[in-house]
Amino acid sequence: MASRFIDFMLSRISPPIAELKGPPPSEEEIATMLRVASRVPDHGRLEPWRFILYRGEAREKAGALLADLAERTEGPLSETRRNQELTRFSRAPLVIGVVSSPKEHPKIPQWEMFLSGAAAAMNLVHAANALGFGANWITNWYAGSEEGRRLLGLAPHERVVGFVHIGRFEGSVPDRPRPDLSAVASDYTGPWQA
Ligand SMILES: Cc1cc2nc3c(=O)[nH]c(=O)nc-3n(C[C@H](O)[C@H](O)[C@H](O)COP(=O)(O)O)c2cc1C
Repeated sequence: MASRFIDFMLSRISPPIAELKGPPPSEEEIATMLRVASRVPDHGRLEPWRFILYRGEAREKAGALLADLAERTEGPLSETRRNQELTRFSRAPLVIGVVSSPKEHPKIPQWEMFLSGAAAAMNLVHAANALGFGANWITNWYAGSEEGRRLLGLAPHERVVGFVHIGRFEGSVPDRPRPDLSAVASDYTGPWQA
């Protein structure tokens, strides 16, 4: 059991969004994904995150709003560019927005609340994969735009952890080089020295 889980984790990979196809996950599968995503370390049990589901026609609505915003910001868009914005949320059958929704707290720093949100996003990706779906976590330009976030349903104090695109994936993805552990892990030897 342990080695199957380790094998699963060591082979995880994100397929291209354009290759994530329907039919979308069932209600029950989505509920499972969200339960797993919510089961994360959360200092102070603040639940400093929430999820927004973009599915069905709502995906086209989000794309149309983003295309209009891009046009307002950049001026007239080429047809290719406009189509790119129009289809941002409709490439995959389901997009789950993981939203960091920090709470006021006298002791717990907001940084820790953001980290809990990232854990929720990663758990969501794993749950989707375990249920047999491909998943790809992106942010994109609209996550960095105040108006983009508002159009996508976020409150002013909230930030995008990620838009996790979920769908069925038949192909295979070539792996990319993975970190050399000796470059990212070391024994503690004392204070940092520049
Ligand atoms: C917070 C965050 C934001 C990301 N935003 C984007 C993005 O906007 N566009 C993109 O192409 N990839 C983005 N990525 C990377 C994708 O998830 C990428 O497909 C992934 O790193 C592939 O690695 P994997 O196969 O190990 O999952 C983001 C990753 C993270 C963690």
